[in-house]
Amino acid sequence: MPVLMPSAEVPTIDISPLFGDDPNGKARVAQEINKACRGSGFFYASHHGVDVKLLQDVVNEFHRTMTDEEKHDLAINAYNKNNPHVRNGYYKAIKGKKAVESFCYLNPLFGDDHPMIKSETPMHEVNIWPDEDRHPRFRPFCEQYYKEMFRLSKGIMRGLALALGKPEHFFDAGLGEADTLSSVSLIRYPYLEDYPPVKTGPDGTKLSFEDHLDVSMITVLYQTQVQNLQVETVDGWQDLPTSEENFLVNCGTYMGHITNDYFPAPNHRVKFVNAERLSLPFFLNAGHNSVIEPFAPEGMDGKKLNPPVSYGEYLQHGLRALIVKNGQT
Ligand SMILES: [Fe+2]
Repeated sequence: MPVLMPSAEVPTIDISPLFGDDPNGKARVAQEINKACRGSGFFYASHHGVDVKLLQDVVNEFHRTMTDEEKHDLAINAYNKNNPHVRNGYYKAIKGKKAVESFCYLNPLFGDDHPMIKSETPMHEVNIWPDEDRHPRFRPFCEQYYKEMFRLSKGIMRGLALALGKPEHFFDAGLGEADTLSSVSLIRYPYLEDYPPVKTGPDGTKLSFEDHLDVSMITVLYQTQVQNLQVETVDGWQDLPTSEENFLVNCGTYMGHITNDYFPAPNHRVKFVNAERLSLPFFLNAGHNSVIEPFAPEGMDGKKLNPPVSYGEYLQHGLRALIVKNGQT
């Protein structure tokens, strides 16, 4: 059973001290992160240094210019049996059935001679991209964006480490640039005059994606300003505020697992809204062989610790279970 969060408050936290060298500034941010992760489970990260206007511009252009044929050629195995990929590629919309479409990509450093690619380790794929003559700025932008988001997320993890009473570089060992399993999804929700049928939650709310816990260490999300997310609290489902400038951060279940739910993954869902909008999550994942030993943060001792689990195993099981529960995206 997911943890019910005690509040729906989403603070905005200036995370820039995590990239500087003032210990007091970092301690202050850590305190705010601690409060947020134990409150609604969500906070907005401001002063992040990412150009979100350019991000929207490139992603909108991509979705506007992709032809049906290009989408099919890039489609993941669930939509195109010729493609062995299950993570990286295009997730198609289906007329009359499914409105949402997306493109997901992985670590740009996964190349043919990467040891995990050579050994065909699950969850690792060499990214495929749309034709670079037709979409000249898409791949370079995406690869650069991945790097930026990885750096940003690692900075946020320094804040979480301090908030958990650990040294600030506690999570660095599991977050190597060469082997991170992090992913970016570029999701488009269209406006449609004739919208396909949508699901309804137990409380009667129409939903685009049912309640779930994220499979990640943390999720760092940019969305265009259309209110749609809800968090499950002790007072029921509550709307999360939107932001035009900042990234929404929440813990995934790996953080819940290693902290004995001191930082739980908040249960959340996507309301149905018939509006053209983008949802652009970066899922921060560790490397396949990383194992972070579960521990009891201060005040949580006495509880039995969860067993250690390697990140690769966690991710594979978690993503499969999410498709079984919520369906193929
Ligand atoms: Fe989510």
